[in-house]
Amino acid sequence: MTKPKIFISRKLREDLILPLYDIAHVEMWDHEEKPCPRDLLLKQAEDCDALLTMLSDQIDREVFTRQKRLKVVANLAVGYDNIQVEEATEHNIAICNTPEVLTETTADLTFGLLMATARRIVEAAEFVKEGKWTGWSPFLLAGADIHHKTIGIVGMGSIGEAVARRAKGFSMEVLYHNRSRKEEAEKELGATYCSFDELLAHSDFVVCLTPLTEETKHLFNQEAFRKMKKSAIFINAARGAVVDEEALYEALEKKEIQAAGLDVFTKEPIESTHPFLSLPNVVCIPHIGSASIETREEMVRLCVDNIIRVLSHKEPKTLVNKKWLQTNA
Ligand code: GLV
Ligand code: GLV
Repeated sequence: MTKPKIFISRKLREDLILPLYDIAHVEMWDHEEKPCPRDLLLKQAEDCDALLTMLSDQIDREVFTRQKRLKVVANLAVGYDNIQVEEATEHNIAICNTPEVLTETTADLTFGLLMATARRIVEAAEFVKEGKWTGWSPFLLAGADIHHKTIGIVGMGSIGEAVARRAKGFSMEVLYHNRSRKEEAEKELGATYCSFDELLAHSDFVVCLTPLTEETKHLFNQEAFRKMKKSAIFINAARGAVVDEEALYEALEKKEIQAAGLDVFTKEPIESTHPFLSLPNVVCIPHIGSASIETREEMVRLCVDNIIRVLSHKEPKTLVNKKWLQTNA
């Protein structure tokens, strides 16, 4: 029997993917930062049994039509809006993501971004670097308090709950909005469920952690920003397209809201000429929510494990398309 073939769409550390070499022929794109060209991905998809992909790869109908024996796509992310999951299910291909292992790390970053934005930490560090610090003054770079304020979490999944736990430590009042009520979180964290509009009206910090779907695309539009307090600080650590970026720019520019901290953008990477970067009240970071060394290693290991399981006819640990189980149990 010929060995299965696996393609990895980004250069990863060999020691993390070692177990794959035991069961398969492995090919890997040669760059750490540059994404694998679309043509190569399509070509590789044709004769691969498994793909280990990044959130920057579009795994769509074209990929599923070109493939001949693809069994599993393991995406190095919890989000899978880059994958057409229903198409995959129709082709009997398992889709796996990396939930849970990144929850606490992503919550750390989200809360850190909130703090950096509220207390103007990035601006302050730049200020010192640029030699502008000529003396202490009472309101120099004064920002907004975090403790005892109200945080509104939109998208109360595991990461949302982990952010809520951090907020509790800062004596914050926690509001949340989610498709479904989270009774456990309400009990454990004292979080209060409210409608989207109520959350916008009452939160000092509006934190977006909802996955990108047809329903959540441009959820944060002009109307949403207008419903927020003038002093509101908006944080997005989910996906860029959940936000209408033009509406956000306008809200910030016209001071309809106070500030924003953004880890994600509609089109990534953004260039240094991006309009957001001309605003002093915006902190932009390059999609690093889960980027601690420990967590990224765990995420790769989980992808590797999922691939090995599917190729050895076992149930993967973190399957997205549960329907796949019905035909492969
Ligand atoms: C990162 O954005 C992820 O979805 O894991
Ligand atoms: C500030 O550093 C203070 O001592 O109040």
